[in-house]
Amino acid sequence: MALRLTIEGLVYGGSGIGRAPNGKVVFVPYTVPGEVCTVEVTEDKRDFSKARLLSIDEPSPVRVEPFCPLFTECGGCHLQHLPYEAQLEWKTKIFQETIARATDLELVPQAIPAENATGYRAKATFHVEDGKVGFFRASSHSVVELEECPLLMPSINKTLKEIKESLPEAVHTIDVAVDVDTDKTTAIFYTEDAGCKLDIPHSTVLKGYEVRVKRRFQRGRGRLLYRRGETDCSYTVEGVRLLYSASVFFQVNPAMNRRLVQKVVEAVGKDVTVVDAFCGVGNFSLPVAKKGCRVEGFDIDGVAIEYAKRAAGLNSIEVAVFFPLDVERGKVLEKIAPSVVVLDPPRGGCRGLATEVAERAVERVVYVSCNPSTLGRDLKEFLERGYRVVSSTLVDMFPQTHHVESITVLTL
Ligand SMILES: C[S@@+](CC[C@H](N)C(=O)[O-])C[C@H]1O[C@@H](n2cnc3c(N)ncnc32)[C@H](O)[C@@H]1O
Repeated sequence: MALRLTIEGLVYGGSGIGRAPNGKVVFVPYTVPGEVCTVEVTEDKRDFSKARLLSIDEPSPVRVEPFCPLFTECGGCHLQHLPYEAQLEWKTKIFQETIARATDLELVPQAIPAENATGYRAKATFHVEDGKVGFFRASSHSVVELEECPLLMPSINKTLKEIKESLPEAVHTIDVAVDVDTDKTTAIFYTEDAGCKLDIPHSTVLKGYEVRVKRRFQRGRGRLLYRRGETDCSYTVEGVRLLYSASVFFQVNPAMNRRLVQKVVEAVGKDVTVVDAFCGVGNFSLPVAKKGCRVEGFDIDGVAIEYAKRAAGLNSIEVAVFFPLDVERGKVLEKIAPSVVVLDPPRGGCRGLATEVAERAVERVVYVSCNPSTLGRDLKEFLERGYRVVSSTLVDMFPQTHHVESITVLTL
């Protein structure tokens, strides 16, 4: 069914929002507020519909030509049709509206723009299908073939070109990470074939790789089949050398991660006891410990914890200790009474832990979030127990996409 409607705003996820003649809300990706569009409804729910854009009948003067020929086909970007400044303005507005809906708070965040609107990603997962190597199509598991991606650091694009030439059919997924300190790359190739042979000729950029046996779409790392060269990476931030690999969580935008870490270090302060509840490889814990805080870091990923421990040793930081733990089940605060808790959960947020932290009346909470919806939900747990927000910052880690990274500092 085709409809003509006016786009009134953007929502989290990047879609434009308009209204059908019967008043029902309609979400339309790749549109700009103010535009009059003809759309086709693709999903009709009780309270809203989703639609695809058929034509832009009255384009917004703000609209720009996307720089990537695969925009709208590839699922990676959502906002290339907006100039960068407008993307950040809309992300700020979406953040404010989402938090206000959940909590009644009217936050006015400081928005830190990205240093680079392209070429910023230090990590990528490529999928392989029928000889094509690329990213998933929007809302699908079929592969859009890539020559290169403008959001990736040039060394990843170079690695992609090189490995495509010697890739055996049995590989279904490839994780590539940049060693930020040297600009070399490392890769993990996943296959279901335990006899898979991979022989990548000398590369100027790929310094090492692993081949792992894992089913397509299966969670986890799979079984290591073989490793060639050096597969650990390093990244120096606030004078601390962090260690990681292509198989652990690591912030994808190293330039903006520096800003994020600075903000967290500043918010935590000096000489306090800190719990870093989703610490990964110690991205916040180690710079915070270097400033003189005692830190206990927890993460469900034992491999990330091993990297954090090794980096603590490498940097001679003795006041940070790390433990593998599911913090949503582990009762982290039963044995420790920190004055600050840093929370940096995955997209689903951390409602259970947020409640525990608030009930224990921890003096200060630094909540780093990549999803304003779950942040709003979790903030309620704190506000209902007497906390107030002392600062709110957006750090734009993901230009051209809808993702919104924020830091909210709360105190009792
Ligand atoms: C957004 S990342 C943040 C990592 C780190 N703070 C950083 O800046 O690199 C979220 C982390 O939470 C960890 N995680 C997810 N669920 C968890 C849980 N239930 N308990 C502990 N850690 C968890 C993941 O392994 C991942 O390292």
